[in-house]
Formats: sequence, structure tokens, C-alpha cells
Amino acid sequence: MDLSLNIADGLMLNNPVMNASGTFAYGREFSEIFDLSIMGALIPKALSLGPRQGNPAPRIVEAPCGLINSIGLENIGVDAFLKRELPFLKGFKVPIIANFFGESFEEYIECASRLTVDGINALEMNVSCPNVKSGGLEFGRDKKVLSDLVRMVKDKTTKPIIVKLPPIGGDIVELALAAQKAGADALTCANTFPAMAIDEETWKPTLANYVGGLSGPAIKPIALRFVWDIHTKVDIPIIASGGISSYRDVIQFLLAGASAVQVGSMSLRDPLCFKEIIEGLRAYMALHHIESINDIVGKLRS
Ligand code: SIN
Repeated sequence: MDLSLNIADGLMLNNPVMNASGTFAYGREFSEIFDLSIMGALIPKALSLGPRQGNPAPRIVEAPCGLINSIGLENIGVDAFLKRELPFLKGFKVPIIANFFGESFEEYIECASRLTVDGINALEMNVSCPNVKSGGLEFGRDKKVLSDLVRMVKDKTTKPIIVKLPPIGGDIVELALAAQKAGADALTCANTFPAMAIDEETWKPTLANYVGGLSGPAIKPIALRFVWDIHTKVDIPIIASGGISSYRDVIQFLLAGASAVQVGSMSLRDPLCFKEIIEGLRAYMALHHIESINDIVGKLRS
């Protein structure tokens, strides 16, 4: 049985299961619980040029079948990551995908260029964070802005570029097509949905930032539909993200056309879920006599 797959030049995965950026920090805490070398790829928290403190607390709240976060892209910055965290992550011999963002074209380009180093296999361009006033989503909801940005970033790096799309704000299929035309090597579909929680006793918003991004099983059926929509129009590989919690979810997303998946919220509830999902995939393939994981991708029957 072969679970390996190729997303782009230099990005060959042993299996299709990676973490989602933002629920994994830089991997250190998870590495105390399980061996990170089982992963298809590792994606640390989104990186900006300089360190950021993120939004004030409270910045995470449970929702029915999911959670709403408003972290505000807290991170240690590209240079500290390269110095302190990359050497640690490289030890697991798993492809590393650096998620990055900026508040201007220049910052995106500079981040991408500084992250173009040995040990980083691909760059995931975050143009979809709903929790910050500038940066993130403002670059991902207009297809002209998005394609200009992808083109400029591609010019400054030799690493494959994966564009992490926003689920709303623009037509996701149009955005996916624009990213592909501009040279994106793959797409992540999709980031969290803008959402809110209110405390009916205090009459106040639960999150200090008022609003956040909804993730978890609540959004899975919508993400599944987006993946299928995009797969019918776009040729580059799709990495699915949105409420994936079990090997069954992974199979469903692969059938819809995803080549790989990211697991986020579920790993906060059960950090060992990655192991269970990968083992579940193996058992499913054995039961159904499927030799290669690639034989499932896009094979939805009518
Ligand atoms: C955050 O840091 O606010 C979440 C990251 C994201 O949605 O991209």
C-alpha cells in the first residue's frame, strides 16, 4: 500500500495528512505527545517579518461542533523561526511548509524570500485570515490583487507556492483559477469562516476582538463542497482544510478531489488524532484493496 503523493516539485509527502497552520504552534508541544515523523508534512504557525503579539484575550471560544478563534496571527517572526524553530522541526525528516503573510506586497515578498532556505519545502501564502485589520484576507478576496501577489511572490522564491484561500469574500472558484493562472503550485481550501459568539448574561461579545474564524466539524460539509467545486475547474493539487476529524473525512475529501488534507481543530481536542487518521487510512485501503492513495483522488462516482 502506498500512501505517498506528490504535491509539487520538492514537496513529496509520505502520506496525505498534515496539521493546519495555527493549531500547532511550532510543533514542540505535539512532539512531546507523538512522533512528528509520522506526518505527511508539518506547517508551523503563520509567520510575519517581525514578531506579533496577536489579539487580546479571550481569543478562542467553543462553538457547537467547532471553535471560533481570534488569535490575530501571533508569531515569533521569520528570523526567530529560522534560527530557533526550523532546526528543531528539520530533525523529524518530514517536509516543512511555512505559512506566511504580510501587511503589504513588499512584506509578503520579503517573507517569501527569507523563507527560501534549505529545510523549507514549500510556502503556504496566507491571504485568508479573518482576524486582522490589515494583511491576510484583504489580499485574498479580490482576484486581481491575489494574482498580482502570487506572481510577485513566485518571482522571488524557488519554493512551491500554496495559496490558502478564504471561504467567503469572493467567489472561491474564481480565486482558485486566478491563483493557478498566476503560477500557484497548489491551493489550500479553505481558511476559517468569519463568525461571532455573544454572552447572553453579560451582553458582551465572548471574544475580545468581537469576531473570529469558525473551524471544526461545523464547516466540514461546506469545505467539502468547495473542494469539489474547485476540483472540477482547477488542475493544480488541492489541500483540503475544514473540520477534518477522522479517516472517513479524509476519504470523503480525497473523493471530492483533494490530494491531501490539513487537520486543525480536532488536534486541539485529541492531539493523537493524526496517528489514528493515518492508521485508519491504511486499514481502509487494505479493506478496499486500494494500492495507492492517488487512486482515490477525484474518484467521486455519479
Ligand atoms: C489567527 O491567527 O487569527 C488565525 C490564523 C488564520 O486564520 O489564518
